Amino acid sequence: MGIAPSPSCTVHPATSIARRTGDDMGANAGDGEGWPNALAKYEALASSLPSRKGLGSALYRRHGGFWYPEHLMAPTLAARGSFVARPSDVILATIPKSGTTWLKALSFSVVHRGRHAPGSPGHPLLGSSPHDLVPFLHSTYESRSAAVAPVDLLEAMPSPSPRILAVHTPLSSLPASVRESGCRVVYLCRDPKDAFVSLRHYLDEIKPEGSTMTPFAEAFELLCDGVSPFGPMWEHAAEYWKESLARPEQVMFLRYESLKEDGAGSVRTLAGFLGRPFTDDEVARGVPEAIVELCSMQRMRSVEANRDGKHGAATSWSFKNSAFFRKGEVGDWKEHMTEAMAQRLDGVVKEKLRGTGLSLSH
Ligand code: A3P
Repeated sequence: MGIAPSPSCTVHPATSIARRTGDDMGANAGDGEGWPNALAKYEALASSLPSRKGLGSALYRRHGGFWYPEHLMAPTLAARGSFVARPSDVILATIPKSGTTWLKALSFSVVHRGRHAPGSPGHPLLGSSPHDLVPFLHSTYESRSAAVAPVDLLEAMPSPSPRILAVHTPLSSLPASVRESGCRVVYLCRDPKDAFVSLRHYLDEIKPEGSTMTPFAEAFELLCDGVSPFGPMWEHAAEYWKESLARPEQVMFLRYESLKEDGAGSVRTLAGFLGRPFTDDEVARGVPEAIVELCSMQRMRSVEANRDGKHGAATSWSFKNSAFFRKGEVGDWKEHMTEAMAQRLDGVVKEKLRGTGLSLSH
């Protein structure tokens, strides 16, 4: 399962749709040309944006008030210019290291439990990475392959509905069709202190050979200054938070810490939001608990695809899926940050979120 090419489609919808939707970052990028040319134009555009040193080994680019890892800037712009959401789509939105992998597994299990019982030995999550079952939208736009345009790949995603796709994109930079279609968006946030510590481990794990990491203290200063992947973190969360209040039928706001505290309850809420509430019989049979167990850190870690499989094999940045599974704990920041750092970050976040009714620190 995953994204499969559509052999019958020979036109290049990515470019024509970009024209129709009036992509503000380059309305004519790719007109009459193939996908690699369109991507090259988005890349040129991305490289003209302001840049700054990032939290790991990569550079960040600034767009729409947010910072993007350089290699994801052009694919994100391309997706914004051409992705056409369907009303039935489910979009999972997170800041990196907030539990994206976990949310992908949970959402996939909830949505497809009719076809794949969570306790069945042949469940797709026991054979594939959650990232292969629920792709990132930007990943589809990272490929330089001339054979199949991203829009065709997305059109060919396996039925039955819904398509489940993930983004790190800020709400204000999502493709316009996400809002217009009325599709459901699930946002997952995490205490910024734990997300930062998790991010640093991850970036160290996946850094290209020979590259060096920004020192921890310097990276922390950048974070407090709003510079982090798809950050400022607080701004990212605040946008989705406000939207979840304004459009509760379309946007759901979840917390990593709540998932940890009450997995089955959170899964029931998620199922209800996705329009697939558990029946009394399913609850009596313990289906929500079975999904929590299937998607648990322990279980996911033991799956060969998550241990030894590769992430981003078709892209410029490939690494082992095991990088997505570390501790999965709440409060691990205490092992890596001083109390003064924690207070500083909590203070910055609190100040920035003043008046929103949102709090992120756990
Ligand atoms: P830690 O580094 O704190 O352990 P993302 O999926 O957004 O990249 O986030 C990765 C973080 O989620 C990592 O946190 C990882 O260990 C944790 N994680 C991955 N799978 C999980 C699961 N099934 N349950 C709980 N946490 C999980």
